[in-house]
Amino acid sequence: MTTSQDSGLQRGIRVRKPRLDFDDASIPCYWFKNNPVVTHGFNAFNLVIPDFERFFVRSVMRLRGCVNDPVLRNRIKVFAGQESMHAQAHENYFELMKKQGYKIDRYLHLCKKYGALSERMGTRSLNIASTAAAEHYTSTIATLVLSQPSLLAGMHPTMRRFLVWHSAEEIEHRAVAFDVMQAVGVSYFVRILAYIIVSFDILLWTTLGSLMLLRQDGLSIRKIFFYKRKFRKEFADLPRESRRLLLAYFRKDFHPEQTAIPPITHAELSNLDDACDKSDLKECVGAQE
Ligand SMILES: [Fe+2]
Ligand SMILES: [Fe+2]
Repeated sequence: MTTSQDSGLQRGIRVRKPRLDFDDASIPCYWFKNNPVVTHGFNAFNLVIPDFERFFVRSVMRLRGCVNDPVLRNRIKVFAGQESMHAQAHENYFELMKKQGYKIDRYLHLCKKYGALSERMGTRSLNIASTAAAEHYTSTIATLVLSQPSLLAGMHPTMRRFLVWHSAEEIEHRAVAFDVMQAVGVSYFVRILAYIIVSFDILLWTTLGSLMLLRQDGLSIRKIFFYKRKFRKEFADLPRESRRLLLAYFRKDFHPEQTAIPPITHAELSNLDDACDKSDLKECVGAQE
């Protein structure tokens, strides 16, 4: 990992809208190293993202009026813009999955119902704490993805751009929900309770989603373990590193900015900017912090 001085991610938080051609017929069903288990792990996480991200936006926007710091209020606005773009792009990606023959509507419907029920049952404090907890998960995954050049190299170029964009912005806005949670005085107990609930939700929905997709492919248990072992062999340090980053959230003095920024280069971010839809300048280059 690089220090923050080496990273292009230090230049401020802003909304981008890269062109992502999910109609590209060259995107294979198994877009990560022809590995169905890893591809569907990412896919399963993709499926829950739009509803979850819209929930994140609602929970921070509900508390924007309670935040006095004008810088944080502006970061909330950009956070909402980035997450809305992500949700939209992930829904566009769903269309590709459907074209590839995957039946995902029932799963998406169940996810939506579960999310709506959890939101209704949660207090404002629990909902913002859940958002901060989920943001720690997304920024951890983003950090891991951007720290592993060979992981990115194994992806189809469109999917790589999709993940680099989303990961970069997850890191840019990783502290926004946490800072809102701190600003409204959520206790350590509620922060950790929410983290445990969110951990369970992520495990549940990504496992269910992966199994649902692998079942549609008719993959045997033996094959599933074969591809899992293959990935673990190649990326042996990932489980240890992800445990380290995820457990850090339990520290009382934890703050998202304490995690080192991965080595995404200025060139990589410039590539993203080049691929932005310039027809919508407000979304593409506006909203600087
Ligand atoms: Fe996002
Ligand atoms: Fe996020």
